[in-house]
Amino acid sequence: MTDSTSELNRLAEGLALAPQAFMQPPKETSTFVIFGASGDLTHRKLIPALYNLACAKMLPEGFHVVGFAVTPMDDATFREEMRKAVQKSKEVTEFRESVWNDFAQGLHYITADFEAPEGYERLQKLLAEIKTEHQVPDNRLYYLAIPPSFCRLVTEKLGEHNLVSPTGKQGEGWTRLIVEKPFGHDIASAQDLNAHIHKVFKEEQIYRIDHYLGKETVQNLMAFRFANSIIEPIWSRRYVDHVQITAAETLGVEHRGLYYEEAGCLRDMFQNHLIQILAIIGMEPPVRYGGSSVRDRKADVLRSIVPINPENLVEIAVRGQYGAGKAEGVVVPGYREEQGVNPKSNIETFVALKLFVDNWRWSEVPFYLRSGKRMNTKVTEIVIQFKRVPHMFFQLSQDDVMEPNQLIIRIAPDEGISLRFGAKVPGPSMRLRPVQMNFSYSETFNVQPATAYETLLLDAMEGDATLFNRNDAVELAWDVLEPLLEIWSATRPFHPFPNYAAGSWGPTGADQLMLKDGRSWRNPPDAPLLSRVNLENGHGGGTHV
Ligand code: BG6
Repeated sequence: MTDSTSELNRLAEGLALAPQAFMQPPKETSTFVIFGASGDLTHRKLIPALYNLACAKMLPEGFHVVGFAVTPMDDATFREEMRKAVQKSKEVTEFRESVWNDFAQGLHYITADFEAPEGYERLQKLLAEIKTEHQVPDNRLYYLAIPPSFCRLVTEKLGEHNLVSPTGKQGEGWTRLIVEKPFGHDIASAQDLNAHIHKVFKEEQIYRIDHYLGKETVQNLMAFRFANSIIEPIWSRRYVDHVQITAAETLGVEHRGLYYEEAGCLRDMFQNHLIQILAIIGMEPPVRYGGSSVRDRKADVLRSIVPINPENLVEIAVRGQYGAGKAEGVVVPGYREEQGVNPKSNIETFVALKLFVDNWRWSEVPFYLRSGKRMNTKVTEIVIQFKRVPHMFFQLSQDDVMEPNQLIIRIAPDEGISLRFGAKVPGPSMRLRPVQMNFSYSETFNVQPATAYETLLLDAMEGDATLFNRNDAVELAWDVLEPLLEIWSATRPFHPFPNYAAGSWGPTGADQLMLKDGRSWRNPPDAPLLSRVNLENGHGGGTHV
């Protein structure tokens, strides 16, 4: 028996192995250059993710990181800052001095203006030094952790200074570019940015990151759909009543008021994360799990989304903004009182939206999407609600509640999948009650899944772009939201803001959006399984029988 077969057998026997047991570090080493290295993302996500990879021995020999930003720092200060960031990070389970010391030796910093040539000249020099001193190939991964307005400039400068090789493929000397969201501000700016970046980088070299696509459960959604034969036949308009996608946060805008005033919830969460999840739920089976196959099928879904009709907006979209309230038991201010926010701001911190995907599989099945800041519970989940049985022949009492089947795919926290179905209550009479069958990632595999950034950074180092967005996906997502963006920026909200209290489940309009269709949101954990919504003519809401 080979090593890998015996490992798989052990897993099959229920002896959990860390996922790293099946992973190898990237075959080729590279230098990782972060533009915007003094910012929040580098502290909170990028360096902790790289450190975690170092702990798991997933970084190749000779891997170096170069921070590039305007904030003045030398290598030693940068290393010290990053050490503190890693020690503080919730995503790092254990700080190991020896791993850190090795990792920190490969950290460098360039204080530079994005505009001036000096920074790029120093970068050329430093990359050449790393190459010669450590005998590593000329592979570079540039990470743009900077606002979209700077992305054009930095890519242009990289081109001008001959810092970009013509290939993104493994082999001698590749260059890849990872671009953070938001990718543009609207369809026109996204197209413009794509056109500009394409002057310097080929599409195969560009990795547009959406960290939701690196989440274990989002990837598992594909495994669940396409590696299990019982799922495919029921995954369509024949059996599915509707789909809910919720990304609720208890946090407010924190110190990101300035950014959020420009973005709002539609740009911050819908244009990327929620629409991407919708695409994975809706996609047809790809030919293989690889670069263009998966991305082609996702793009098909985005192309099939029924355009938002501006005249029909109140029927399908609700916006909200939080006022003061309590988040996880603590009194918190309203959005308009947050730092960096206009006290009269009409920026939305909550959106609920009903979309349709007009194709053979999904015609007339509503997809309800919602996301908001300062909501009751931190939860990201997908609910696939199935149609009710055509005829209920059990003689049930008035007290019995039969809820339709629901498949709940929990992306965070407590990653897992649950199926709700009706079961007989033990006893002499025929009584039914909804029960739940659960699969929990952490219980089954006995490990915490890798963070999204770890997964995605490794993929980019390997040259696997499957979980990154192609230019068409980004532009199509903007296209879907464009009518809403235009109208909301030009009009005042129908119900004056703030229209929901921090710590609630959002504005009542969001509940109405579903109630008028005879449906209701699943709001965990308060009403997770047995929401006793009694709707006379409901399609899918709980019904007393
Ligand atoms: C980011 C948004 O993309 O996703 C943030 O900019 C949001 O506003 C975050 O808080 C949510 O991510 P997660 O992984 O915590 O659900």
